[in-house]
Amino acid sequence: MKFFEEKRREVMKHIEKFMLEKMNEYLKPIDTIWQPSDFLPDSSRETFFSEIKELQESAQGLSYDLVAVLIGDTITEEALPTYESWLTMVEGVSDNEEGGWMKWTRHWTAEENRHGDLLNKYLYLTGRVNMRAMEVSTQYLIADGFDIGTGHDPYRNFIYTSFQELATNVSHRRVASQAKKAGDTLLSKMCGVIASDEARHAKAYKYFIERTFEVDANEAMLAFEDMMRKKIVMPAHFLREIGMKIGQTFGHFTDAAQRLGIYTAIDYVDILKELIADWHIASVTDLKEDGEKARDYIMALPDRLLRVAERMKNPMLEYKFSWING
Ligand SMILES: [Fe+2]
Ligand SMILES: [Fe+2]
Repeated sequence: MKFFEEKRREVMKHIEKFMLEKMNEYLKPIDTIWQPSDFLPDSSRETFFSEIKELQESAQGLSYDLVAVLIGDTITEEALPTYESWLTMVEGVSDNEEGGWMKWTRHWTAEENRHGDLLNKYLYLTGRVNMRAMEVSTQYLIADGFDIGTGHDPYRNFIYTSFQELATNVSHRRVASQAKKAGDTLLSKMCGVIASDEARHAKAYKYFIERTFEVDANEAMLAFEDMMRKKIVMPAHFLREIGMKIGQTFGHFTDAAQRLGIYTAIDYVDILKELIADWHIASVTDLKEDGEKARDYIMALPDRLLRVAERMKNPMLEYKFSWING
């Protein structure tokens, strides 16, 4: 166990160098990156109330399910304190306060923080949301934390974040395109810029793991296999509403997303395929016997999951969320 941990720390130190070099590629300068107020009505202007009226009119065109998914996405973004505190617990991250990993964690958090901020303000202004019910869910989700099956292992964690950033990219992108179809161009723009942040973050995490495969292929392969066997659970899997038990709302949220085609079982497979391609899983060398077996499992998984996905029925049951007025 000791050897296992020491080797990972060594690899983390090794990757840290590249990360410091590449940070500016994966994160944007704070002075010029978009901020929530670039998209929202300016309350200091005389046109504020007419702009809100306009915002509310275009938000009327969004379907019930789409609003529900957007609220679920927002709560997920707003549980950022959970993700930051968990990242600092990953082996090798907090060894040095001013080191590359802590710097990355702070700067990543700072970018992510704008997502929940923007979506929350937008939802508040639409007039369609029971803000109190939504806020209770947010407080619950932060209080409940999550259990994503990674432990403090950096390999498992950054495989998870690679997957998850790609998944959030897909879901924000789809909300953007459905909002546009529904005539809400403001929401569409907002979700579009959030999606492109997520795409950059995915690139960073994929890059960390790519470097890991170069120096510790067998362990990286075993970690990838383990995460896929456990299945990548979404960070909001403990989602609940007022008066409910932990996790009780989560299934309704994912049903709505599946129904609308915002994030589906097929997307899960597509993300897996992308990771397999980007990490060149088929051509990784230096594997031991267990690593080879892990690779075989991973390579066969997309087809297996696709067959399962094809048999899956679209969840039809509509659910009344406490978050939505009327
Ligand atoms: Fe985000
Ligand atoms: Fe993200």
